[in-house]
Amino acid sequence: MNTYQIALIPGDGIGIDVIDAAMVVMNAAAGRHRFALETQRFPWSCDHYLKTGAMMPEDGIETLRPFDAIFLGAVGWPATVPDAVSLHGLLLPIRKAFNQYANIRPHRLLAGVEGPLKAEGFDILCIRENTEGEYSGAGGRVHQGRDNEVAVETSIFTREGVERILRFGFEQARARRRHLTSVTKSNAQKYSMVFWDEITRELAADYPDVTVSHMHIDAMAAKMVMNPQDLDVVVASNLFGDILTDLGAAIQGGLGFAASANICPDRSAPSMFEPVHGSAPDIAGKNIANPIAAIWSGAQMLDHLGETGAAADVLSAIEGATRQGIGTRPGRNSTVEITAAVVAALGGRA
Ligand code: NAI
Ligand code: MG
Repeated sequence: MNTYQIALIPGDGIGIDVIDAAMVVMNAAAGRHRFALETQRFPWSCDHYLKTGAMMPEDGIETLRPFDAIFLGAVGWPATVPDAVSLHGLLLPIRKAFNQYANIRPHRLLAGVEGPLKAEGFDILCIRENTEGEYSGAGGRVHQGRDNEVAVETSIFTREGVERILRFGFEQARARRRHLTSVTKSNAQKYSMVFWDEITRELAADYPDVTVSHMHIDAMAAKMVMNPQDLDVVVASNLFGDILTDLGAAIQGGLGFAASANICPDRSAPSMFEPVHGSAPDIAGKNIANPIAAIWSGAQMLDHLGETGAAADVLSAIEGATRQGIGTRPGRNSTVEITAAVVAALGGRA
């Protein structure tokens, strides 16, 4: 029997509720598919920061390295710890240290979920570059506080960085409907985005079975609203991917359904799976957080671990619940009820 070592970082607020809920489902799936998840829980969070002065211990990264995967809830508690501190103290260092350069987010309407659009039959896999581009942090400010103050922030695009994210996208497209949309703004940004377009064309030659579209980010935003059913795999830079995936979460019915994976494709380090939403201080501790985004992220984790049958079962079980209207409207069902319905649809008992 395969046993996987999973590092759990529930984090803050509803992060704790949704990770607990998702683990009930993961363990039920593991039982049915004859593998085991051995978990170790790390209390790294804003609470931990207030107690120790750090979001995670100094050797936190080395502690996580041997795990097969990291399953994270949400990090942030702005009332006591500034968001820049919590983000830069935990999430960003993990993504960076483990070279999780592909941030992948599925956008699709689950059965029974009503989205804001008329379009229903869309199934998009957004792949966001997660390590460089507009969020490289290269820049500075001079003459601070004076009238002639200047702020400069430079996007950094490397051949290695662009090539590997596009290759990852082409591989994903091959395993799906064989269509890749590369998102840039090469009419206006004539160096970095033209470079990105050139590399897309070069790589396309290696994937003759995949059709490629080039879209500008502004037209893409409109397309995701007007004709999302035409899209399959979408690859975008850090900033563009960040914005498009919020739009993606919106068209799939909201943050309660938006899953994500931070993947280290060469598997030299663990990948990290987390719902897109944050700690939701407004509903924390009320047992009304929707655990579906976290459960779906857990299914992505099982898939990455090679347990593809279990991953597919979890996704069908989520839809087994939503098809009956469970978890589809904010506040209609409790976190515990939704979890029990997913486990029941898996053929087990919570
Ligand atoms: P948020 O995602 O926590 O909440 C936004 C709104 O969506 C709230 O009204 C919340 O109640 C609702 N919501 C979110 N997830 C839900 C769920 N599963 N079920 C039902 N309703 C849900 O974003 P917000 O309020 O901007 O941020 C709160 C904290 O979370 C901040 O400290 C922020 O930095 C942090 N954050 C952390 C993220 C992460 O760990 N990756 C991502 C986004 C925010
Ligand atoms: Mg965002």
